[in-house]
Amino acid sequence: MEIIHVSAECYPVAKAGGLGDVVGALPKYQRQLGHVAKVVMPMYRTKFLYANQWEVVHKGYTHLGSWWFNYTVIKEQTGKLGFDLYLVDIYGLLDREKVYGYTDDTERFTAFQVAVADWIVSWKHRPDIVHVHDHHTALIPFFFKYCYAYQSLADVPTVLTIHNAQYQGWMGWDKSTYIPAYDTWKTGMLGWGSAINPLASGIKCAWKVTTVSPTYLEEMRSSANGLEALLEYERGKCSGILNGIDNVVWDPAKDGYFEDHYTVDTVEEGKRKNKELLCQRFQLDPKKPLITFIGRLVGEKGADLLPQAIEDSFYYTGRRMNFLILGSGFPEVESRMNAMKALSREDYNVYIGYDEALSHLIYAGADFILMPSRVEPCGLNQLYALRYGTVPVVRNTGGLHDTVIDYGDKGGYGIRFNHVTVGDITHGIWRATELYQQAEKLKEIRRHIMQLDFSWELSVTSYLRLYESIRG
Ligand code: ADP
Ligand code: GLC
Repeated sequence: MEIIHVSAECYPVAKAGGLGDVVGALPKYQRQLGHVAKVVMPMYRTKFLYANQWEVVHKGYTHLGSWWFNYTVIKEQTGKLGFDLYLVDIYGLLDREKVYGYTDDTERFTAFQVAVADWIVSWKHRPDIVHVHDHHTALIPFFFKYCYAYQSLADVPTVLTIHNAQYQGWMGWDKSTYIPAYDTWKTGMLGWGSAINPLASGIKCAWKVTTVSPTYLEEMRSSANGLEALLEYERGKCSGILNGIDNVVWDPAKDGYFEDHYTVDTVEEGKRKNKELLCQRFQLDPKKPLITFIGRLVGEKGADLLPQAIEDSFYYTGRRMNFLILGSGFPEVESRMNAMKALSREDYNVYIGYDEALSHLIYAGADFILMPSRVEPCGLNQLYALRYGTVPVVRNTGGLHDTVIDYGDKGGYGIRFNHVTVGDITHGIWRATELYQQAEKLKEIRRHIMQLDFSWELSVTSYLRLYESIRG
């Protein structure tokens, strides 16, 4: 089968979060099963771009509304990522340092999708599946079905994976001219509420829709940022497929980002060394449990409650633990977390920013990872933590519900709490501190979680089965 993934992110080319990890791994595992998997994404100004060799495979000319533009598609020459990688360059629009966060993101990602459709329609053959990810690429199923220029692609099956329905790519109807000429009887397939809604359009027009965990799909029936009724209506074509992790990139025995490697048999020593390194670097006390948070400092992740939960934990337990935070997001949360550094007694630190290498070292050196998410479609942090013998302390929601069982329950190994409140988070932290005192129990859990299998090998077959069900 020939599968084309279209995405805004792909590790190691450009990553802002879990979407990048998934699109950097899933195609590789599809390829290993003998399929032709390709990734098409925007050409940002990334280190990866300058460090690799490219060949131009296509040059085209198309338009976004009345603005005509040239675009170029380049292909990575060696295939070293384990799949074919294509970047679309639209001069001045996509070639920027960051993936998101510009005022013209609507124009950037719409033009990107127009260019991708314009390129694919020029091929002599048709791919078996076009798999789009999140709202940045979710207009493509509409383009194929209803835009006159791409009518020859109407039979190409499309799959939309929703990694996060909080963001939908809304744009006003004044921007409807950005959509290449289409059958206006189908205007309703673009909108939801009072705006053009690319994610909703993708849900309506894709042949199949997946979410990144089964529980998230279930939760979306009552909480999907306004899309509940639409998802209920389209339920027949929706399914939840749990993400996997790339066990080659994320392997404590070989991880390229730190030196003190370890396996399930050497986890105690390996963790101790990495923890000491972290504690030295961030002025923390290695004798106390190290509780960490890695991620976007936004409401979705419950990060707004973290400062208070940390202060309360210190207050009620007599400072029996360390905290180390890595992330960036809401300025108010960032500055409160920064301000708390002044009160640290070698038991609190924060690194505001994005640092891939540091994240790997934290998974390796931490005792616990905290995820008090309000919404967590899948969550990869807890899966990486498990593989590195780090115990997840999570809110019982979405993918966290599907992957973490409380150690108080049969077969359990993590810590779960139900509500996103300072009280529940603090209680979870207290339970982690208690577990840390039970050295033998903790050792047993670490050995157990490192052997759990959340690799892509399992999930990739679910995707292939789904593709087979819609293939011509
Ligand atoms: P989301 O995609 O919603 O942010 P996920 O749990 O799916 O959450 O994936 C987050 C990914 O981004 C993980 O690979 C995590 O290690 C990484 N990550 C998040 N924030 C940072 C950061 N500040 N520095 C380095 N890596 C980060
Ligand atoms: C999104 C979700 C996260 C998920 C990731 C990869 O960013 O917020 O829960 O793990 O996509 O699918």
